[in-house]
Amino acid sequence: MKNTVLSMLEQSEDFVSGEYLSNVLGVSRTAVWKSIKKLREEGYEIKSVTNRGYMLVKKPDLLSAEEISDGLDVSFVGKQIEVLKTVDSTNNEIKRRAAAGAESGLLIAAERQTGGKGRIGRIWQSDEGKGVYFTFLLRPDMPPNEVAEITLAAGYGVCAAVREYTGLDARIKWPNDIVVGSRKLCGILTEMTAQIEKVEYVAVGIGINVNHKEFSEELKDKATSLYIETGHGINRNDFLRAVISELDKVAEQFLKGFTEEHRSKFKELCVTLNRKVTSVRGGKTIEGIAVDITDEGDLIVRDSSGSLININSGEVVVQGIY
Ligand code: BTN
Repeated sequence: MKNTVLSMLEQSEDFVSGEYLSNVLGVSRTAVWKSIKKLREEGYEIKSVTNRGYMLVKKPDLLSAEEISDGLDVSFVGKQIEVLKTVDSTNNEIKRRAAAGAESGLLIAAERQTGGKGRIGRIWQSDEGKGVYFTFLLRPDMPPNEVAEITLAAGYGVCAAVREYTGLDARIKWPNDIVVGSRKLCGILTEMTAQIEKVEYVAVGIGINVNHKEFSEELKDKATSLYIETGHGINRNDFLRAVISELDKVAEQFLKGFTEEHRSKFKELCVTLNRKVTSVRGGKTIEGIAVDITDEGDLIVRDSSGSLININSGEVVVQGIY
């Protein structure tokens, strides 16, 4: 009922009378008024004028599953979408749901995370209402060693969506950060539960800095947002819809098997290649030039002696980037 009132107000550029709403919906004027009251409580700005009715003036800047799903046609990612106001971590929530039997394709976004997680045990700062924080569940039929490529694929999907939606020159910092210039825009944390032979489920958690106008002293040289880069605010529902649509396309390609063309598109957007990188593995520092990425998603580094070394995890510092 509340949603029907909302969509009728959205479709009209003028006032819509309470009488008209109650006739079309077959409910009392008081019921219409109660819906208006609820919408106002949710942050919708609705003007009301005696004898003219109601007019929608401004929508709240809130994530809404309904708005994200509007016109979205997906087969793998976001088949079911939920938005939570507050959660410890959307990754944790997806893992809880997966353990309880949730289906592949479920996506959970949150306005705020009280315990947002980054890679290598770091914290992901999740300011309320500014970023887009979400996790989707996949139950791919594959061995655990192929999961790393899902994360690369997700990074590619987000990067492509940011480029398309904003026109920014977003790039991938291997394995799965998205950067604009030398600062980080997005991070991805993939977690999985598996037996030795087979994956049970994968939770792909993505955090994108969207409407942050500034960052703390500690982060300001390392992090950026779409607002900072484009100079204007972004409608998070529309943007998230674009990201999900791109992730769904990439998931389909991934599940069918990536071709050389997909891999070369990834490499074209990868800012790590042909740069000097440093990585610490097992207490040993590897330094060299990143020359390629294997089909399994490993980074190949040529060190000063000319040896080629595969790096498949851990932190890689890329010269010139945060
Ligand atoms: C990183 O760059 O270290 C990864 C950051 C991943 C952050 C996202 S926000 C949504 C999802 N929930 C979490 O707790 N983490 C991921």
